[in-house]
Amino acid sequence: MTFQRNDLLGIQDLDPEEITTILDTAESFREISERDIKKVPTLRGKTIILFFHEPSTRTRMSFEIAGKRMSADTFNISASGSSLVKGESLKDTALNLEAMAPDLIIIRHAVPGTPHFLAQCLKTPIVNAGDGAHEHPTQALLDLLTIREHKKSFRDLNVLIVGDISHSRVARSNIFGMNKLGMKVTVAGPPTTIPPFIEKLNVNVTYQYDHLIPDMDIIMMLRVQKERFNQPLFPSMREYSKLFGLTLNRLKNARDDVLIMHPGPINRGVELDPLVADGPFSVILDQVTNGVAVRMAVLYLLCRGTLEQ
Ligand code: CP
Repeated sequence: MTFQRNDLLGIQDLDPEEITTILDTAESFREISERDIKKVPTLRGKTIILFFHEPSTRTRMSFEIAGKRMSADTFNISASGSSLVKGESLKDTALNLEAMAPDLIIIRHAVPGTPHFLAQCLKTPIVNAGDGAHEHPTQALLDLLTIREHKKSFRDLNVLIVGDISHSRVARSNIFGMNKLGMKVTVAGPPTTIPPFIEKLNVNVTYQYDHLIPDMDIIMMLRVQKERFNQPLFPSMREYSKLFGLTLNRLKNARDDVLIMHPGPINRGVELDPLVADGPFSVILDQVTNGVAVRMAVLYLLCRGTLEQ
């Protein structure tokens, strides 16, 4: 099995074999969530801390469900409920958490590189659950698992990622993963949301995308991340929605088997028409379901070293 790491910090670091190992492991765990009794003893006695400094529904809950389905003990600490608010540094907080002997710490933080910093300070395995606009590796892995489930193979699939690319850790992690697995990625959005030099990541860039829809196997829509910028990046949400929002009308020339993806949370009526979000091409809730299996796989692979001792 090809995955011998202490931490999961990003997709950029992984090679295609490591990604495939995580996806294969996730696939083998998927049926546990379909059982009447959704619990296996695999991680019994393991302690997992979830340390989320930003809001989360999908990532936090699916990591917690993944841990509990494998019989690990999971504990949550938020920034606002911790002694960070009394002035304790992040490093000291993390060292104190480590002193309680967890087997793994999962961190989400608004500052890019925070999980990498903690991985340098601690011996405990660290999982990046999203660091600012940098990476969100488990989101990309669950997206890849969903694509493989529906398309069987990755090679030469055409993917269009639409939205606020410059603030999207989901876009970055997916671009890294999709390129490694042989997919062809195009990004689309208002010019102010496309990072300069993004072509260096081996993607095509377009500022309007209707003409590309008939060629696409996958269209991934992204949320405009208003919380990550101070100045407006375009004149109005109404204009953004008109130019970039995915509607049934825009999809009229799409392939019959196109997949519509979104990492969530969706702003209905902005980047996605509700008729598309809930329509026959949408695999958005499959992504969420696969998030549990992928996170079970990540917890298992990172804790495996200590299980075998
Ligand atoms: N996709 C995602 O990361 O969602 P949450 O912010 O709800 O975890």
